[in-house]
Amino acid sequence: MKALLLCGGSGTRLRPFTHTQPKALLPLAHQPILFHILNTLAATTIREVVIIIGPNGKPIVELLRKTNPWGFDFTFVDQPIPLGLAHTVLLAREALGNAPFLMHLGDNILDEPLRPLVNRFVCEKPDALLLLRRVKNPRHFGVARVDGKNVVQVEEKPRAPQSNLALVGVYLFSPAIHQAVRAISPSPRGELEITDAIQQLITEGKDVTHHLLSGWWKDTGTVTDLLAANQYLMKKLTPTVAGEVKKSTVKGVLRVAEGATLKNCQVRGPVTIGAGCRISGSTLGPYLAVGDGAEITDCHLSHTLVFAGAQLKGATLCNSIIGERVRIQGQQKTATARSLLVGADAVLEL
Ligand code: G1P
Repeated sequence: MKALLLCGGSGTRLRPFTHTQPKALLPLAHQPILFHILNTLAATTIREVVIIIGPNGKPIVELLRKTNPWGFDFTFVDQPIPLGLAHTVLLAREALGNAPFLMHLGDNILDEPLRPLVNRFVCEKPDALLLLRRVKNPRHFGVARVDGKNVVQVEEKPRAPQSNLALVGVYLFSPAIHQAVRAISPSPRGELEITDAIQQLITEGKDVTHHLLSGWWKDTGTVTDLLAANQYLMKKLTPTVAGEVKKSTVKGVLRVAEGATLKNCQVRGPVTIGAGCRISGSTLGPYLAVGDGAEITDCHLSHTLVFAGAQLKGATLCNSIIGERVRIQGQQKTATARSLLVGADAVLEL
C-alpha cells in the first residue's frame, strides 16, 4: 500500500502566509502541518509516499530531502495547475503503479490512528474506504449517503445535503479509481472532483465502504481553522526545556528549544518556543507557538502563532498569526489585545 499526499493547492484562503511558503509547511504546535500528517502515516505499514506539489512546492522537496526521520521513500509529482483532487490521481498514475493507496489531503489533520483503517482495507479489499464524520455544516464538504456499511451516494458541496456525513480528506482506494478518474468531466468549478470519481465507482457497482470518525478532525483551509488546529495540537504537547528559563513563572506546559532564553516572563502554557529565541519581560500563552530565532520583548501574546525570525516589542496580541521576520513595534503593554494577520517581512508600528 502506498500513500498519495496532496500538497499542490495554492492556499489562497491562507494568504498572506501562503505567499511565502506552501500551506503544508505552515507550522502548527511548532511542526509543519505536513509533519503532523507524516507522523500519523508512519504508524501504518505504508513506506512509499507520493507527494503532489504545486508551483510553490520546492521548499517541501528540499525539507523532506534533508529531514526524513520516518524513513519514507518519497516520490514527488508536479501539479503545475490545481485542477482538482481527482486530477492528482491522474498525475500520480505512474508513481502509484497498481498499488492500492491512501490519499490524504495536505491540509487535513485528524486525531485518529490510520493503522486499523489500512489493515481493514488490506483485509476486506473494497474499491474505496471513505472516512466520514458527522458535521453541522455539510454544505461545505463532500457529503455521503450510506446504507449500512455501503456508501450509496456522494456529492460535492451539495446545496441540499442528503445527510450530515462529510467526507474527511482521507480516502483509501484500490487501483479501480484510475479508470474512474478517467471517466469523469470537470465540475462547474472547473475541477476534476474526487467525489465524482467515487460516485463513478458507486454507479459501476463497485464496493465503496466507510469508516465513521468520532475523533477530532480539521480541514485547515482558513486562518480560523489554522488557529483552532494549533490550539488542539498544543494541548497534546509535553514539557521539555532545552533552553534557559530565568526569573520567570511557569504554569502549564512549556517547551523551550535549544539555545532559546526566556527572562522575566510569565508563562501560562501550553507555550512552545523555538530554537535560539530571545524572549524577555513578556506574558506568554496560553496557546502561543513561537518559531526559531524570534525576539520578543515586553509583549502579551496568547492564542497566537509567531513564525521564525519575527521581532516583536511592546505588542499585545491574541488570535494572531505573525509571519516570518515580521518586525512589530508597539506601545508597550496595552489593555486591549489586537488580532493581527501579518505576512512575512512586514514592518509595523502599532
Ligand atoms: C475537499 C473535498 C471535499 C472534502 C474536503 C475535506 O474540499 O473536495 O469533498 O469534504 O476536502 O476537507 P476542499 O477543502 O478542497 O474544498
